[in-house]
Amino acid sequence: MFNNNFPHPITPTELQEIHYAIAIRYGINFSGYESGMLCRQFDRFMIRHHLKNTAEFWTKIITQNDFISTYINEMTVGFTEMFRNPEMWQKLKTDIISLWHHIQHIDVWIAGCSSGEEAYSLAILLEEERLLGKVNIKATDINKTSLNTAKLGIYPQSNIQTIIKNYASINPKRDILSFCHQNTNELKMHSQLSKNIKFEYHNLLNQSTMGYFDLILCRNVMIYFDDIFKMKVLHNFYNSLRADGKLIMGYYDILPTQMNNFFAPINSNMRIYKKI
Ligand SMILES: C[S@@+](CC[C@H](N)C(=O)[O-])C[C@H]1O[C@@H](n2cnc3c(N)ncnc32)[C@H](O)[C@@H]1O
Repeated sequence: MFNNNFPHPITPTELQEIHYAIAIRYGINFSGYESGMLCRQFDRFMIRHHLKNTAEFWTKIITQNDFISTYINEMTVGFTEMFRNPEMWQKLKTDIISLWHHIQHIDVWIAGCSSGEEAYSLAILLEEERLLGKVNIKATDINKTSLNTAKLGIYPQSNIQTIIKNYASINPKRDILSFCHQNTNELKMHSQLSKNIKFEYHNLLNQSTMGYFDLILCRNVMIYFDDIFKMKVLHNFYNSLRADGKLIMGYYDILPTQMNNFFAPINSNMRIYKKI
């Protein structure tokens, strides 16, 4: 199993062997992920951690307690951003959220929420519409470090210009800074925004449902899954949606044609679908 000539691109078979051993030792299963993506992530991981070969990788996994968590967190890329792809948030606001005024209670699931920016973005749109009180948001991820950040709702200032620009394109009349406290390095989201958000650990690949929802957002997560698991996850979403429930995927997520009998596009450019 050990490849002693790193750095060189790891092969899918080598990585499968490593992940088989990790599954036995830690019960963590990488089998649903797309193998090309995993290999690229693994190569970057080895370089970032100055590991010369897979023997060094194993030594670190075995001798350093939290290294396996670092590995999982870095392999399942967590990039996210407040109001990422603002045109989608604009459509969500005008075509979906605006219809919720006459409904008594709404449940939303944000699957693969990373550090929580999507959940706070949604909460801001709901607050604008005075709907926050009747919407429950469940936001889940497998990355516990990201979930901890999400629960705190504290983000670095480094990305502030993008956040301001994204939000201004949705609501030019209001400043996103009115939803957070700002200090020199950080933004802390107002705590009232998260009063109806539950951040929880959940692994999409072991198929358990999280309840029944009117809207599911799962953006930029399924791109990492292979076709078989993508279908399983989409069936899980179908079963978790109430009649007329909506599903929003990421721009690079393609709905497999086999799912055309389950979801119909509301806006295919924005990857917004409704349950049939
Ligand atoms: C690129 S981020 C997307 C974050 C956010 N949805 C967005 O679009 O801005 C992908 C997220 O999916 C999560 N993820 C990867 N595999 C997962 C799984 N099996 N179950 C749940 N979340 C997963 C990662 O931990 C990461 O936080």
